[in-house]
Amino acid sequence: MCGIVGYVGPQRAQDVVIDGLRRLEYRGYDSAGVAVVHQGELAVAKRSGKLANLEKELADHPLPPAHTGIGHTRWATHGPPNDANAHPHTGGARRVALVHNGIIENFRELRARIEADDHAFLSETDTEIAAHLVELQVQSGVDLPVAMQRVCQQLDGAFTLVAVDAEDPDRVVAARRNSPLVVGLGDGENFLGSDVAAFIEHTREALELGQDQIVTITRDDVTVTDFWGRPVEAKRFHVDWDLSAAEKDGHDWFMRKEIFEQPRAVADSLIGRRTTAGLLALDEMRLADEEIRDLDKIIIIACGTSFYAGMVAKYAIEHWTRTPVEVELASEFRYRDPIVDQTTLVVAISQSGETADTLQAIRHAKSQRARVLAICNTNGSSIPRESDAVIYTHAGPEIGVASTKGFLTQLVACYLLALYVAQVKGTRYGDEIDEIMVQLEAMPDHIATVLEQAESVYELARAHVGTRSVLFLGRHAGYPVALEGALKLKELAYLHAEGFAAGELKHGPIALIEDGLPVLCVVPPRGRDQLHGKMISGIQEVRARGALTICLAEEGDRKIEPYADHLIRLPQVPVLLQPLVAIVPLQLFACELATALGHDVDQPRNLAKSVTVE
Ligand code: F6R
Repeated sequence: MCGIVGYVGPQRAQDVVIDGLRRLEYRGYDSAGVAVVHQGELAVAKRSGKLANLEKELADHPLPPAHTGIGHTRWATHGPPNDANAHPHTGGARRVALVHNGIIENFRELRARIEADDHAFLSETDTEIAAHLVELQVQSGVDLPVAMQRVCQQLDGAFTLVAVDAEDPDRVVAARRNSPLVVGLGDGENFLGSDVAAFIEHTREALELGQDQIVTITRDDVTVTDFWGRPVEAKRFHVDWDLSAAEKDGHDWFMRKEIFEQPRAVADSLIGRRTTAGLLALDEMRLADEEIRDLDKIIIIACGTSFYAGMVAKYAIEHWTRTPVEVELASEFRYRDPIVDQTTLVVAISQSGETADTLQAIRHAKSQRARVLAICNTNGSSIPRESDAVIYTHAGPEIGVASTKGFLTQLVACYLLALYVAQVKGTRYGDEIDEIMVQLEAMPDHIATVLEQAESVYELARAHVGTRSVLFLGRHAGYPVALEGALKLKELAYLHAEGFAAGELKHGPIALIEDGLPVLCVVPPRGRDQLHGKMISGIQEVRARGALTICLAEEGDRKIEPYADHLIRLPQVPVLLQPLVAIVPLQLFACELATALGHDVDQPRNLAKSVTVE
């Protein structure tokens, strides 16, 4: 939530900052702004709405050719998305400009304290107080890093702050608590960004920052301290993807590009997971076999799409390892006093690695002595940093706000985890694990086969432009797929969409069925006869009440044909792996329907990619 950029170097700061904001716009698009330091003065431009509004303004009125600058793209929390609330904010004397991601919880008390001293505020944000406080500090004679330390010591909440001082033109200072920030290390120039996409065009070398740290960048130097000025060693890392991964590559939307990247993303997430002897080896899995053998419960915590990946994982982990699994929304977890101890493994699933609800849930689990394993796509992010172990997915950057390849690669990581636990606990024989691995390794080709049907799915989607409501049905591992399909449609097409467990329908939701209501049904493979038969009964029931059924069923399934108004064929795969192929047509459907409705698929209204506030 909110994208932040900082730059010091020989290039024109306005251009570097705007390019960085363009790559971070998925984090928030309520307003955008930039501030540069030039000849002892600040120049600030900001506009409500998408970055394009600011770019237009800058095309007409460019900022001076400065070499130090900061920028921000906003997801509004305090105050509506107008020009006044857009960042950067400045202190009263316009000496300090500052951008912020997060929430300063005690901003009202702090503001009241200095308002009494005749400080006028121009916005309704929680951020502006920080600009005033930092400015008061530098006016008192301390330098910007010390000013930032002193202010951070007074703030409660979650924040990344990035500031410049007009009288200190060659440095940018940033602070981080519970919100993301990484440093890009250039040659004679340095960068700050909410994530590496902000500077990937310029460098792939980066520094990971920890909690409660302050970083100062100049052209040639990067210094990191804690909030009390004590030096800190930051961890360096290399970003293993490049600029092309952050470009649309000829597609109309990042989301569509990311859907089509899924065969590659799944294949990459499977690479290097086996030893030459064929055993599963998860490199970053820092849990000892002993600890895994002692586990008596796994709790999966996650939000949104990642939560649905966790629901699929429950079926796989319980089936292959006979270890009980609970799946819980991260935002609920710590508020219900969960039963967690040192024999519990908490698995936190997060594409971004920065979701505040998940991070807080991890902290709660750790305080109860649970071991925490993260499944994450983002190197250098907070969730893997704070976990005991991690399985990285290798989706590459996911820029479309709606998660697609993130979901598929999370599923792969969950299957790998399940099989690894089965291997260590001995709940499956080696040749069974081998067989499942072979099936998993065939999935990229199966996903590619599903993608070949994209045109017919698009046609179906376009035929539903007038639809106001869509239901999704599934059973077993197909149930979370139904929920995820509904989420995709809600967030992109802004339609009423709901996913149900097919068996639950007759306990209430069937009352929603009316003539012509589209119902997308994820039909389990025939290998599970009971499941398949029961699903067909459910489909018959909705069809008998006038629903229009769009069925996703495996190749060769003839029994479904009489009950399907439209049929989308899936490759024949085992039921537990079916989510990897079944979700793909639902992603395509949502993407195309939203496009046909004229919505911005990559930046749906009210959403942001990385939810860094609770
Ligand atoms: C939906 C979507 C969100 C995220 C959720 C968790 O398409 O993207 O529901 O899945 O906000 O985000 P991460 O996985 O980054 O923790």
